[in-house]
Amino acid sequence: MNLLITGITGNFGYAVYKVLKGRSDLEIYAGARNPERVNFLIEDPEINVRRFDFDDAGTYEAALEGIEAVVLVRPPAITKVKSKIFPFIDMCRHKNIQHILFLSLQGVESRPYTPHYKIEHYIEKSGIPYTFLRPSFFMENLITAHREEIRYESRLLVPAGEGKTNFIAVDDIARAAARCIGNAQHYRIAYELTGEENYSYYDVARILSEELGRTISYEKPGMFPFMLYRLKKGEPLGFVLVMSLIYRAVKTGKGADQNENLSEIFGVTPTDLREFIRDRRTYFELDS
Ligand SMILES: NC(=O)c1ccc[n+]([C@@H]2O[C@H](COP(=O)([O-])OP(=O)(O)OC[C@H]3O[C@@H](n4cnc5c(N)ncnc54)[C@H](OP(=O)(O)O)[C@@H]3O)[C@@H](O)[C@H]2O)c1
Repeated sequence: MNLLITGITGNFGYAVYKVLKGRSDLEIYAGARNPERVNFLIEDPEINVRRFDFDDAGTYEAALEGIEAVVLVRPPAITKVKSKIFPFIDMCRHKNIQHILFLSLQGVESRPYTPHYKIEHYIEKSGIPYTFLRPSFFMENLITAHREEIRYESRLLVPAGEGKTNFIAVDDIARAAARCIGNAQHYRIAYELTGEENYSYYDVARILSEELGRTISYEKPGMFPFMLYRLKKGEPLGFVLVMSLIYRAVKTGKGADQNENLSEIFGVTPTDLREFIRDRRTYFELDS
């Protein structure tokens, strides 16, 4: 089967590629807006790289030539799904794509303001067999979105109050995804995927402090100071807005819905948050 992976230079796409490479039933294609970046980061002569840009509908058809299944990652900066994602799904239907595995979001059914909600509905309507993976918060957020504030400011800045949430490692989601690719048993199903335990950001700050050997404090700013902080970092308004609303859900106790799907359905043992942090402590050290 010819599989196109979008977002292969990002957290999930790369993790999926790592699990799937070498699988004899698959020919892997990467759809990337900058093919040189893929070749530089991945260095795999077996991978077929095609230029693909959600912002350029002219790239869709050629990227899907001969492709049978698609791993679809909505880039976080794309909030205008009607003009940037729906036309790609239309092209998938036109090219007779047999399966779309879409990386969605936990709790999406009750969050109509998220791009994922709209994308799920559009894919369903398209008639293309799908699998929706709806993970909780990525542990990787700590080494991406929060790395600088932890490393340089010894603090976590999230408007989640005392609410608890759940964290999952992207590699675990990718292992589940790999079980769905090429397996019709997992078509037309949405799976919520979570890690083993729920944590408040106080808990996360405490674990970070214990593992890093210095105090990391949890600051629970209001929504607007948080938005200002992220906007000053140059993040797009739509992205910051969606992120703030998701944290508000955590604050109001709607972010901690743990389940056993990873292990029970996919045979994946969830990564432990403390171990995740321990393995990546150099990310937060000042001299690294
Ligand atoms: N973080 C969380 O806690 C969490 C939880 C649940 C769901 N999610 C969802 O997961 C998704 C993000 O996944 P991720 O963390 O793997 O993403 P990521 O690491 O931010 O990577 C985004 C990928 O999209 C590519 N990309 C960006 N703009 C593009 C464009 N115009 N055309 C084609 N490709 C483009 C990037 O490629 P370049 O190399 O070209 O930049 C990169 O490979 C989002 O939809 C997010 O809402 C996140």
